[in-house]
Amino acid sequence: MNVEPLIPNIDFDQLEEIALAATTMVQSAREHMLAPNKVKKAPHMTTTEICEITQLQRSNFNYHYTTNETLPRGQIAGNKREFTMAEAREWIRFLRPDKVRDPSVSAGCTITVANYKGGVTKTTTVATLAQGLCRRGMRTLVIDLDPQGSCSALFGILADVDVEEDQTVTPLYMGTQDGLESCIQKTYWDGIDIIAASPALYSSEFILPSRQRSEPGFEFWRVLDAGLDSVRDQYDVIIIDSPPSLSYTTINALMAADGLLMPMPPSNLDFASSAQFWNLCTDLIKTLYADRGLPDKKFSFINILLSKVDSSVGVSTAVRSWIYNAYGSMVMPVEIPKTSIAETASAGFGTVYDLVPGSVLAKTLKRAKDAYEDMIDYVEKQVRGVWAGQALMNSKGDAK
Ligand SMILES: Nc1ncnc2c1ncn2[C@@H]1O[C@H](COP(=O)(O)OP(=O)(O)OP(=O)(O)O)[C@@H](O)[C@H]1O
Ligand SMILES: [Mg+2]
Repeated sequence: MNVEPLIPNIDFDQLEEIALAATTMVQSAREHMLAPNKVKKAPHMTTTEICEITQLQRSNFNYHYTTNETLPRGQIAGNKREFTMAEAREWIRFLRPDKVRDPSVSAGCTITVANYKGGVTKTTTVATLAQGLCRRGMRTLVIDLDPQGSCSALFGILADVDVEEDQTVTPLYMGTQDGLESCIQKTYWDGIDIIAASPALYSSEFILPSRQRSEPGFEFWRVLDAGLDSVRDQYDVIIIDSPPSLSYTTINALMAADGLLMPMPPSNLDFASSAQFWNLCTDLIKTLYADRGLPDKKFSFINILLSKVDSSVGVSTAVRSWIYNAYGSMVMPVEIPKTSIAETASAGFGTVYDLVPGSVLAKTLKRAKDAYEDMIDYVEKQVRGVWAGQALMNSKGDAK
């Protein structure tokens, strides 16, 4: 036989060296992206962007600018006035008081982005949604539950090198902390905090079942939900990124959620996999709740988001009809196109909102941003709906 014989000779020491080299490469790639300051900088918002979000005429904005000097002044950049993210959020909350949460009657709405298929854009959706909702004035907490830490990376935090175990949800899972306050850190983006991920999170797959066996009355599926109780009031929205598996941590993410969002590329394999995911979830939830005589877990909304839609191919009529027949009104009236912009953004450890105009083709960027903005508009209404639902239930509770 004319082939080179392959003798097993790669041992784990060699793999360890490879792992170290790869981690060092990621670190230097990140530093290269973030040069010269080695920290991520949030984009600024222009007056035009503030007017677009608040649907205000420029003349109305100018009126508030001159009459209300306590509002941030911003700074001139070229021929535009720009505001930092903190300043812009202050303006937006001032201009849309009816869209601001009343913390005395409603807590933050928790959204879990899940799909046990890998690479369907869960992480991109979480980061973009967090930034988009924050640009509308919402104080946002992102929770990265994927030990790979991709979402943390999009916020400039590298799981392998920057994150200690006690900056993840691991202490909550271990029972050494009751709440999540101590795990939260600020990000480069004013208004977005994060509980980062690190490879330590893999241990949750041993810790949670082991506590279930050893602690009477322990409910492994409600640990995150209970841990969130201590921080829900401080945020308008909490967005959870989950790993591509139906693991103990994903179950916690589902149980903590007011609403679920499942990104799904419109292909037959992704559709089939989504069906399996829901089957497994419902089997599991039934076992956990009904078999113990507990009231059902209920969600306020479930969204199916068609993602990475390739406009050159289109969605096949058959796949589209399966999706709509199965999920009906849960399919969001927005589709996210497959675009090189998303890949360019993630290569720079960011999202479409991090891209500097001029660094990519303006028309392509606008097309991608418009799709994300439509998604964010839709989810924003649902978040406000969840707040209104809580206020209603609270008022009924008070009336009793
Ligand atoms: N709209 C888009 N068009 C094209 N590529 C995209 C789009 N959105 C995201 N991507 C790319 O698809 C890849 C997978 O995205 P992402 O990491 O968000 O998926 P995921 O579901 O979180 O993956 P995993 O299951 O590994 O956690 C990334 O390389 C990302 O840059
Ligand atoms: Mg991911």
